[in-house]
Amino acid sequence: MYAVERACFGREGWGILEILDALLFSTVHLKAVIKDQVVGVVIGEAQPLQGYGWIATLGVLPEFRRQGIGARLLAAAEAQLAQPRIKLTVRRSNIPAVNLYRRCGYHEIQIWEHYYPDGEDGVVMEKITAATTADTVATDDTSTRQDHS
Ligand SMILES: CC(C)(COP(=O)(O)OP(=O)(O)OC[C@H]1O[C@@H](n2cnc3c(N)ncnc32)[C@H](O)[C@@H]1OP(=O)(O)O)[C@@H](O)C(=O)NCCC(=O)NCCS
Repeated sequence: MYAVERACFGREGWGILEILDALLFSTVHLKAVIKDQVVGVVIGEAQPLQGYGWIATLGVLPEFRRQGIGARLLAAAEAQLAQPRIKLTVRRSNIPAVNLYRRCGYHEIQIWEHYYPDGEDGVVMEKITAATTADTVATDDTSTRQDHS
């Protein structure tokens, strides 16, 4: 997962401690594996009291992109989060990711100005799902990681 984070986000990728925190406390952490190689990851957190799930990070190794892996990871995470709404943030300039999220049913709901370390705005996107709050699972995650997605 560390390798995928670095390949996808460079120096902004999560470090070992953030990854351990995510693996221990996040509601959903899924990987895509091809021939024993981890080629994509997604991490999500359910916030059932607020009635939504949050996609914290999603990444696919460059050489495995445009094969539907990102969309499949996202769909699997949404299903496991099982919340009425799923939210995430994305850089305004990240056209591949914005396109992926739009294609998967997300729409923009808010702008977080200067959210990223270089000052770029974060676009908050949301998807309304068919899940009901009765399907939700509680979490006590208190992470302060900066999310990529
Ligand atoms: C964003 C990312 C996860 C997409 O993963 P992927 O496996 O390539 O995505 P998919 O193959 O499932 O693509 C699904 C759709 O997303 C859109 N999309 C994906 N990559 C795109 C690109 N480079 N340009 C334009 N649209 C793109 C397309 O609509 C695509 O459907 P199509 O291939 O039928 O046209 C991947 O590019 C990535 O890891 N980027 C770096 C990390 C990142 O930015 N993560 C998101 C943080 S918010």
